[in-house]
Amino acid sequence: TRRVTTKDLQEAKRSHHRWAMLTAYDYSTARVFDQAGIPVLLVGDSAANVVYGYDTTVPISIDELLPLVGGVARGAERALVVADLPFGAYEASAEQALASATRFMQRGAQAVKVEGGERISAQVKALTSSGIPVMGHLGVTPQAVNSLSGYRVQGRGDEEAEQMLRDARALEAAGAFAVVLEVVPAALAATITKELGIPTIGIGAGVECDAQVLVWQDMAGLRGGGRPARFVKEYADLNAVLGAAVEAFATEVRAGTYPSSEHSYR
Ligand code: KIV
Ligand code: NA
Repeated sequence: TRRVTTKDLQEAKRSHHRWAMLTAYDYSTARVFDQAGIPVLLVGDSAANVVYGYDTTVPISIDELLPLVGGVARGAERALVVADLPFGAYEASAEQALASATRFMQRGAQAVKVEGGERISAQVKALTSSGIPVMGHLGVTPQAVNSLSGYRVQGRGDEEAEQMLRDARALEAAGAFAVVLEVVPAALAATITKELGIPTIGIGAGVECDAQVLVWQDMAGLRGGGRPARFVKEYADLNAVLGAAVEAFATEVRAGTYPSSEHSYR
């Protein structure tokens, strides 16, 4: 089986085939998603939240993300593996972006993702011209939570909408192969999708995007607590499934019914 390429994703846009992206943070889940036919796996800096338990994605470091990329890369045979560059790893300069991205590519990623548009087009250009495919990310960019003042919808109103379209065009012009649109009005996401030659990947950005992405724990109903965002659809209730399995295991251990003779060696 041949690995999915960025070219395959351009071709999917041309032929109006939608596709699904999921986050992954380890070998075991990457294998499941890969075997289910998910063409693109993102080692998101959302690992800050769902793996490390931070409140935001701001504190996660390259060193915390790198081993997760290695696990996902070893688990994904067919999927294109994209690694998020974390906050602080690329904003300063093209040189910084190249140095950071190189570490992720050496761990097995086939592409990197960065947040921002026009203001990081020099970084995107440097990466793509060095052979590193880049996925952009506009709208709610969680690494900027402290200046966005929260995770509210981005791109409402003519001024914000026009800026987002300029940012999207800047990413395409700099060589990006796709762009994530996070919590953006559906009509604006549809316009950007139509204007760009590269695929848009929506998360809370309506059905007109070329692709959709969710954090896998959100998609599968594995929640630490709290209410999921409006855009999340839970396709399973892993909280309940896993919780029940854990309780059953502990109950059998306490009762002395696990392990039975069939789970023992003589
Ligand atoms: O880190 C992440 O999970 C992401 C996706 C939600 C796009 O950036
Ligand atoms: Na991210």
